[in-house]
Amino acid sequence: MEAEATPFVEHLELKPVEDFFPSNTPFLAFSGAHGKTKVTVITMGKDTVYETGVDNVGTVPASLATYLAVEKIKTMNDGNDLVDLILNAGTCGGFNRMGGAIGDVYLTSGVANHDRRIAIPGFTEYGHGKIASDIDPTNMAKELGFKTGIASTSNSLDKTDTCDEIMKDHNASVKDMEAAAIAYIAKMQNLPYMGVKVITDIVDGGRPSQDEFFENLASAAKSLQSALPKVMDYLCDEKRVNGEL
Ligand code: ADE
Repeated sequence: MEAEATPFVEHLELKPVEDFFPSNTPFLAFSGAHGKTKVTVITMGKDTVYETGVDNVGTVPASLATYLAVEKIKTMNDGNDLVDLILNAGTCGGFNRMGGAIGDVYLTSGVANHDRRIAIPGFTEYGHGKIASDIDPTNMAKELGFKTGIASTSNSLDKTDTCDEIMKDHNASVKDMEAAAIAYIAKMQNLPYMGVKVITDIVDGGRPSQDEFFENLASAAKSLQSALPKVMDYLCDEKRVNGEL
């Protein structure tokens, strides 16, 4: 959502890129640099299809925007700009039962889906769509003071009892609406993926997610603004990239 991205975009002074996405899509791109690292932030823009004008959320816009962005970057700078890493930054629900608290930053160790239930042999696993993160976040989380865990994705902010059973089976630490879709595109593109997720609401805490979400959205976006440069510094450290760490 725009509110999740804006503090980070402003902090890095990223500039809007005109014509990055096809003109019949609502997606937005902002680019610039953090140290030596080129950064492009994409957001999913506002809904025009259902004519609600709200922020686009969920798996369909997330996967399409991610795919188009990777393909676009391949054509830029005479083909010299390649995507090295997809970071999926955003808010999430957390779980008391997994030790989560509002404001915690999680680095994803993997993703799964909890709303794709297909009780046909082979399709059950397909529906759950589990993908391990290519980056083991354990050491990074220790160094930066973050947590690690599985992100489970659905297209709903709330959950049914069945969703909850499946999230328990997935051992999910956080619940979101995009991670599994973006990790799917990253895997298809043979690119490393990791989620950086800040808890805005406690799914098993007794209060409606939407109330806690709006109370904590602005502070979560601020913590993304401070967490993301640290994650990039850690991952893009030349020594680590050269295998010297
Ligand atoms: N984003 C923030 N909180 C969420 C929740 N409870 N479920 C899905 N996505 C979220």
